Amino acid sequence: MSERSVVVVQGRSDPEGLPGLETLAGEVELRYAPDLDRLREALPGADVVLGSNFRSGRLREVWSAADRLRWIHWTGAGVDALLFPELIESEVVVTNSRGIYDGAMAEYVLGLVLDYAKDLGRTHALQQARVWQHRLTERIAGTRALVVGTGSIGREIARMLRAVGIEVTGVGRRRRENDPLLGTVHGREALDRLLPEADWVVLVTPRTPQTEGMFGAAQFEAMKPTARFINLGRGALVDEEALIAALRAGALAGAALDVFGTEPLPPASPLWTLPGVIVSPHMSGDFFGYPRVLGELFLDNFRRYRAGEPLRNVVDKAAGY
Ligand SMILES: NC(=O)c1ccc[n+]([C@@H]2O[C@H](COP(=O)([O-])OP(=O)(O)OC[C@H]3O[C@@H](n4cnc5c(N)ncnc54)[C@H](OP(=O)(O)O)[C@@H]3O)[C@@H](O)[C@H]2O)c1
Repeated sequence: MSERSVVVVQGRSDPEGLPGLETLAGEVELRYAPDLDRLREALPGADVVLGSNFRSGRLREVWSAADRLRWIHWTGAGVDALLFPELIESEVVVTNSRGIYDGAMAEYVLGLVLDYAKDLGRTHALQQARVWQHRLTERIAGTRALVVGTGSIGREIARMLRAVGIEVTGVGRRRRENDPLLGTVHGREALDRLLPEADWVVLVTPRTPQTEGMFGAAQFEAMKPTARFINLGRGALVDEEALIAALRAGALAGAALDVFGTEPLPPASPLWTLPGVIVSPHMSGDFFGYPRVLGELFLDNFRRYRAGEPLRNVVDKAAGY
């Protein structure tokens, strides 16, 4: 490919946000499109979009301006906010940043498990109040975790939890045997049967039409009253009202939520103050230095694109992840 590519950098106004991008400057025409109007102007003649933060459905509004687009690279792992029917049906290839967030998210889950088990929140609160109060705390070794979504992130979470002596069972779309990490991966239909056995339920599937609302009243009622639920996938995977009701009724002991139906979580949400709930602002995957890693992945994929080689992390647009 000898022609000069035109790359639209969506959601950013300069190269600083994604280290390494500036190295392409001589080789490609970079167009920065921090908002939708600039994106509409930038799309005609563009071959590539490097996208990072469309609100759902926004690219669709300017899609008719994409007259030469061949590839969209997404800096997130979940592409639910990006995909729409015209893009799915088109020949435009979508790649994502799968793999970059795995280690940070596994560490985050371990941190949450330890926070609950070792009652660290209470220790901080008692220290603030200068209260010396000896307590017993839970052991995590020998407890059981159910990881729902056994993809790149779910597998790293499984490895991390196993390393500290937690028994891990995995649920994917369909049952499969002989998984090198998990042995049996259970199918979605086994979820309700496996929930009553888990002390930790970690949800990390993509948001697709099949996973929306996969945790509702029935799933929370099936959990142990001592169990904690951790959602790092997407807010739409969970019926939040049902979760709030289940927490109030004591159907489960706690929920650590990094993602929500509405983000930022509205100040009026009961989740902010319900006992046993840990709220974090969609940050479990983000670590110091991660934009550099995102930049490296894009540059590697861009070289492949220019060389006509297969791209890394091609998304199955029809499946939604
Ligand atoms: N909170 C954050 O900051 C953050 C950061 C990054 C990602 N995420 C979320 O995490 C998600 C997963 O990322 P990933 O990199 O692990 O994705 P991935 O490698 O593509 O894996 C997705 C997994 O989900 C499973 N799955 C898909 N549909 C399912 C269904 N209907 N029932 C049960 N399992 C289903 C897949 O099953 P199969 O193995 O059968 O295909 C696969 O194992 C992303 O899509 C995103 O929503 C959140």
